[in-house]
Amino acid sequence: SAAEKDGHDWFMRKEIFEQPRAVADSLLGRMSPEGLLQLDEVRLSDDELREIDKIIIIACGTSFYAGMVAKYAIEHWCRIPVEVELASEFRYRDPILNYSTLVVAISQSGETADTLQAIRHARVQRSKVLAICNTNGSTIPRESDAVIYTHAGPEIGVASTKGFLTQLVACYLLALYLAQVKGTRYGDEVHQVVRQLEAVPAQIQDVLDRAEDVYALAREYVDASSVLFLGRHAGYPVALEGALKLKELAYLHAEGFAAGELKHGPIALVDDGLPVLCIVPSRGRDHLHDKMVSGIQEVRARGARTICLAEVGDTAIEPYADVLFRLPKVPTLLQPLVATVPLQLFACELATAKGHDVDQPRNLAKSVTVE
Ligand code: G6P
Repeated sequence: SAAEKDGHDWFMRKEIFEQPRAVADSLLGRMSPEGLLQLDEVRLSDDELREIDKIIIIACGTSFYAGMVAKYAIEHWCRIPVEVELASEFRYRDPILNYSTLVVAISQSGETADTLQAIRHARVQRSKVLAICNTNGSTIPRESDAVIYTHAGPEIGVASTKGFLTQLVACYLLALYLAQVKGTRYGDEVHQVVRQLEAVPAQIQDVLDRAEDVYALAREYVDASSVLFLGRHAGYPVALEGALKLKELAYLHAEGFAAGELKHGPIALVDDGLPVLCIVPSRGRDHLHDKMVSGIQEVRARGARTICLAEVGDTAIEPYADVLFRLPKVPTLLQPLVATVPLQLFACELATAKGHDVDQPRNLAKSVTVE
């Protein structure tokens, strides 16, 4: 009923709008009075954590993209090598695992069969397993050595939204926690990043307050036959997630690419009027932002319609953006928390305009308990 959906037409839309709260709840109570990050569901000693020399993240679907973002955060802050692998592929490649490997399983439901079988395989090889999960007492956390619960609340829409954003929060917290335990130089920056994270719920709200702009744009594309998404660095998994949402909900062909790969193939797909959604990195000290802008320039020169998500104050993008949606100012590594939101709104509205059942897309299940 409409009441269950808080007046929204779909659970998915309701859940998109719950994200400021879900992110805030997932950050709650993580700092001790002494100013140290604490994850009390982590039942691994500091000594055990310091022993870890490799991390393998396994997940499926949207959760896999959270894992890709986690790789950027963990490697940058902790200097521990991270691999990210689709759970369904993991066991079958005979992965190299031992007691000093930490396997991180990310699953909203905690019941995905591919992910469950992967952690069982890891445990037989004596690896430690940490679950990032939204469902208390589900199978994956029960079979893990440690758990970080996300506090998104129940997610009903088949396509994950607040589940994904809170997984990102858990991944950042895990990365910061490992940095603190290992005492890397970023260990001292934990406070600063936590403060930036605490500002995010209001920044997500700012994006949601402009949902109508995204809806109007989405309705222009009911007849589109294909949409491309471009991102770099932590924006690359966001591009993949934006494309997945369009496939899942609007049954529309969509592909996400790392913008630097354009010239190695995908640019051949670009022709007149092709919508290309571009997630522009924040303007930091590195050259990421400028490289992205030149990639956007390239596709536009070949006729693409460029729809750019770029931070407030980024004027360099203006000449190359056919449509510009402003993102709040967030460091590139944390940008997925705000950049994903307009893409969720876009897919939800486009699917609604096409008359699809957004909460129950054809052929999909909320949790896939067969391999
Ligand atoms: C299904 C859902 C996806 C989800 C994936 C992984 O395919 O339709 O939205 O991302 O499973 O689910 P999990 O519960 O393990 O995160």
